[in-house]
Amino acid sequence: MKVTVVGSGNVGATVANVLATKGFASEVVLIDIKEGLSEGKAMDIMQTAHMLNFDTTVTGVTNDYAATAGSQVVVVTSGIPRKPGMTREQLIGTNAKIVKSVVDQILEHSPEAILIIVSNPMDAMTYLTLKDTKLPRNRIIGQGGMLDSSRFRYYLALALQEAGYPATPTDIDGMVVGGHADKTMVPLVSLATYRGIPVTQLLSDEAITKAVEATKVGGATCTKLLGTSAWYAPGAAAAALVEAIALDAKKLIPCCVYLDGEYGEKDLCIGVPVILGKNGIEKIVEVEFSEAEKAKFAESVAAAREVNSKIGEALA
Ligand code: LAC
Repeated sequence: MKVTVVGSGNVGATVANVLATKGFASEVVLIDIKEGLSEGKAMDIMQTAHMLNFDTTVTGVTNDYAATAGSQVVVVTSGIPRKPGMTREQLIGTNAKIVKSVVDQILEHSPEAILIIVSNPMDAMTYLTLKDTKLPRNRIIGQGGMLDSSRFRYYLALALQEAGYPATPTDIDGMVVGGHADKTMVPLVSLATYRGIPVTQLLSDEAITKAVEATKVGGATCTKLLGTSAWYAPGAAAAALVEAIALDAKKLIPCCVYLDGEYGEKDLCIGVPVILGKNGIEKIVEVEFSEAEKAKFAESVAAAREVNSKIGEALA
């Protein structure tokens, strides 16, 4: 399988690195407009092949879309990341044009590709891609829920540790739906478990609220510490989506997808649980939220629609 990663910054390079170490892709192409960046990152990754024992070939090119031809999956990370104090939504003015141009060029060379959109504001960039390309919705997937759910598991594990349970993130099952946005993402507390035990049985309301709030600003907290946005977790999250598609794993993962009546919503892209397999989004899974979560999801939908309303202006 051939995978292209557009954008060789921190997130894109991490996607390529994780894909290489996982070993299921025969070829990963990194592409960026910055002269030499992709070539350098690819070379650095390939020089770990011996130590990390992988046979994936990672190559890097500068703006040469012909080299991406025939990719089955393409991960789009292009655009600028946020700086401390910025919201993801503030990036739309710069990133909308970049994402549109990248997607158009990718499809010229890989018309059958499944696209994974990572660039922020991710929900709006996924919607833009869907409208621009008119591709069937199963082939346009936004990455947000995988990352936010992983952060939710991390913070729930910390809360359980504080409460005296030796939990690690892999002991936790939990999902975040809604938009990939600080204020309005929806960590589904009602469905979160520690080895099958609802976390609500083990944690106080205060501890749960703290974990939920930390999850929501998980990206912003990293951005503040790093001076730019995070990359290990966002990169690993995108690579996990590629893996589910490449291996036809049919895994249930929250992803940003175009809704056409599911969850009572139409004509927007937002995070909900889906089954990911070789066709991309193979099924949208409708689960029952608590009343409070339903209200929060509705707020998240409204916020996503508001950002979508700015796409036209951003592209003009
Ligand atoms: C984050 C950015 C990449 O959540 O959206 O870290």
